[in-house]
Amino acid sequence: MIVKNQLIREYMEKLNTNYLGLTLRSPLIVSSSRLTSTLGHLKEAEENGAGAVVLKSLFEEQINYYVHAVSSESDYPEAEDYISNYVHSNSVENYLEMIRQAKKNLSIPVIPSINCYTAKGWTGFARNIAEAGADALEINVFFLPVDRKKTSAESEKLYFELIENLKKVVKIPVVLKIGFRFSNILYMFDQFYNRGVNGVVMFNRFYEPDINIDNLEIMPAAVLSNELERRYVLRWVAMASAQKLKIDISASTGVHSGQDAVKYILAGANTVQVCSVLYNKGISYLKKMNEQIAGWMDAKGFGSIDQFRGKVNYANYDKPGAFERTQFMKYFSSYE
Ligand SMILES: Cc1cc2nc3c(=O)[nH]c(=O)nc-3n(C[C@H](O)[C@H](O)[C@H](O)COP(=O)(O)O)c2cc1C
Repeated sequence: MIVKNQLIREYMEKLNTNYLGLTLRSPLIVSSSRLTSTLGHLKEAEENGAGAVVLKSLFEEQINYYVHAVSSESDYPEAEDYISNYVHSNSVENYLEMIRQAKKNLSIPVIPSINCYTAKGWTGFARNIAEAGADALEINVFFLPVDRKKTSAESEKLYFELIENLKKVVKIPVVLKIGFRFSNILYMFDQFYNRGVNGVVMFNRFYEPDINIDNLEIMPAAVLSNELERRYVLRWVAMASAQKLKIDISASTGVHSGQDAVKYILAGANTVQVCSVLYNKGISYLKKMNEQIAGWMDAKGFGSIDQFRGKVNYANYDKPGAFERTQFMKYFSSYE
């Protein structure tokens, strides 16, 4: 363990990065999943060089029951037992305790996560999370547009309401973890910034349905990502970071090696989140990924993350049109 910690210290200094006003010793963040749901896993992440951890999401439904239980205690005493049992089994208190324990036992930043599907009702609860010692709060948000009568603008307004409600009650940095299915991601980014959002995770990778043709049932499409999925993300990281707004970017999806992380940082990400690769290779793989980033930096002569962050984004790359290309026209010939 001592040797491991020494090794980590050796390359960590040059991997320091700033995210949400916090100094992280590595740009690698373990993203929200079951891998961040126990103290044991969190400690393992820290021991292997994670810069920060995002806790497994607490769900809005759980918070709503909790809020209801607390506020209705005196009004409906007969329901108290039932509700408190419900709340207990839905572990909202456990979640707050988990934040406290994580803060007590880890030295890296701890970022809880709330998974929500409405813009209000639950936001006051965010204060409890801040009070439990969270360094920042990540909101995992996606309002699935299923109403064909609703315009994109109406759907998007929900995101803005959510932020406005949240910013009224929490002072810690707020990060939005969004999907990439917006008509204009840069507009959303700008609007988030105007409303005081401190960081955006680009992007979540949602549960998607697949069809089992043997039993004609719905089943989950591939649960874990692969590195090819970076193709949906890189352009937007490069373009959003070029806006030069004071809003941090944490790139997520398809990071399966230190080299993958380097690409997102070159595109302008402040941090890079990892999940699937750790399911595949174990949490200890973080160490290898940090070494790969440090090795690449040595080979290229970069002494710090800041020296290369955004070097190949839409503003700094000398052929920015490459980021605007969406058709393969020019490349067809090599595939004939
Ligand atoms: C099994 C599993 C559980 C997840 N649970 C959550 C969650 O609770 N909250 C969340 O914001 N993201 C969750 N995610 C999404 C991941 O945090 C991550 O954004 C996504 O997997 C893309 O990153 P990757 O390509 O490194 O896997 C989960 C992903 C997986 C595979």
